[in-house]
Amino acid sequence: MTTKLTTIVEYFLISIALYIFVLSPVLRPYLSSDQDDGEPVISYEKSEALVYPEGNLECPEHTFAPHILSTDPLVIYLPSFLTDQEADELVEISASHFEPSTIFHAGVESYDPTIRNSSKALLPRTATVKCIEARAREFQGWRTDVFIERLWAQRYGPGGHYVHHYDWGTRGRGGAGRVSTFMVYLHANCTGGGTHFPRLAMPPSQEWCRFLDCDSQLEGITFKAKKGSAVYWENFRNDGSGYEQTWHSGLPVETGVKVGLNIWSWYQPGHRPVQD
Ligand SMILES: *[C@@H]1O[C@H](CO)[C@@H](O)[C@H](O)[C@H]1NC(C)=O
Ligand SMILES: *[C@@H]1O[C@H](CO)[C@@H](O)[C@H](O)[C@H]1NC(C)=O
Repeated sequence: MTTKLTTIVEYFLISIALYIFVLSPVLRPYLSSDQDDGEPVISYEKSEALVYPEGNLECPEHTFAPHILSTDPLVIYLPSFLTDQEADELVEISASHFEPSTIFHAGVESYDPTIRNSSKALLPRTATVKCIEARAREFQGWRTDVFIERLWAQRYGPGGHYVHHYDWGTRGRGGAGRVSTFMVYLHANCTGGGTHFPRLAMPPSQEWCRFLDCDSQLEGITFKAKKGSAVYWENFRNDGSGYEQTWHSGLPVETGVKVGLNIWSWYQPGHRPVQD
């Protein structure tokens, strides 16, 4: 009897060890929602990370002027997407929440400042934050099954950067993924730190030099970091394939500090809010 029990216990322990050390690392890339064709993606915990609009939300009137840079993929520059006051408030409420930014590679989270050197902060959902979430949703036409992910601020000091990557997130599983990105600048008292898209073409009009770095020697285009403004783009074609042209980087900050805000929208067909 005792021997049998010992054998069962041993078997059990060996199974657990086997699972932890052998199977789980093998399965992890398949279980994870953050695999991204070998490209680093930002840490993300699914359902907790999505926000749901509140019916009784009252937001101040705010207008901004969209400038379409490209229709395929859709890339739109939004000067004054945030007011200066909103940008300042977000910098202030993020200040105590910063932690080193991580990357995901084949489903495994890691810290590698040669790929991504910045700090990230999950923003508490103040009234202003909720109104910005609502603005991002409104801009996208209140699309069915599209949910805003909780907002993250990213802070870059001198040497801070993020190498070229896609924001795709998950693909597959009913087309779920990060359908769109708003890259918003909250604080840009810096040199460098632009957002570089090597595979997007410079538009012919010089007017774009107000928003793009026309002196840059880099291939493609670089949006200048400007407080309050945003770059919006869509990550997928209608057939669910990703746009290679959305490959982008946060160029190194040379002097000063840049704080950015990521607003990602997820297409989650059939997903409904969890009642709390
Ligand atoms: C990362 O950024 C910090 C803060 O700006 C800087 O001091 C450091 O040198 C950078 N490290 C790398 C590896 O780029
Ligand atoms: C911006 O940077 C300049 C020069 O480094 C500094 O004097 C100024 O106080 C900064 N402004 C803000 C709002 O941080």
